[in-house]
Amino acid sequence: MVRTNISLKSVRKIIRLSATNIVLIGFMGSGKSAVGRLLAKSKQNFFLDTDAMIESAEGKSIPKIFEEDGEEYFRSLEESVVSWLINNVNDAVISTGGGMLVYCEKLKEVGKIVYLKVPFETIMSRMDKNELKKRPLFNDLEKARVLYDERNSVYEKRADIIISADASIEVVFSRLRDAVA
Ligand code: S3P
Repeated sequence: MVRTNISLKSVRKIIRLSATNIVLIGFMGSGKSAVGRLLAKSKQNFFLDTDAMIESAEGKSIPKIFEEDGEEYFRSLEESVVSWLINNVNDAVISTGGGMLVYCEKLKEVGKIVYLKVPFETIMSRMDKNELKKRPLFNDLEKARVLYDERNSVYEKRADIIISADASIEVVFSRLRDAVA
């Protein structure tokens, strides 16, 4: 019998290197879904949105999940989505909820992590009433600002590629397309 001495960490690394998904991360309202959809179309790949997957699996909106089941339950759903993506998805463009990589570092095994970096002020200017209503963690602006600063350093540390996304969707899309080409 041939014994190999490969650590779990190395196996994870091999899996990660072989995954060809593009995973978009960034703060709420950074344009992950809009730009991700354009990228997927241009690459003729499928586009997945983890928030939409969770909403359709649960049959209710994210604010309702937060309200009725709590944030912890939502994070456990995100973790299940990440495990499923690792085992089942290749060659897709995936837009993630803003907290997914923060709470679940395993997301890095899904594919290449691309951070769409947008200043907090720009995010605020993009948020109308309707967009705010969809995001329970934006209920308190002071708290959202603090969360932004905390998250930004985590995103920067864990991303494979950082894209300045303080621009129109078309410009961000072309930066993204060049960066992942
Ligand atoms: C969250 C971001 C949201 C959604 C949920 C929690 C977060 O997604 O997953 O409200 O923790 O930042 P978007 O980043 O698409 O708004």
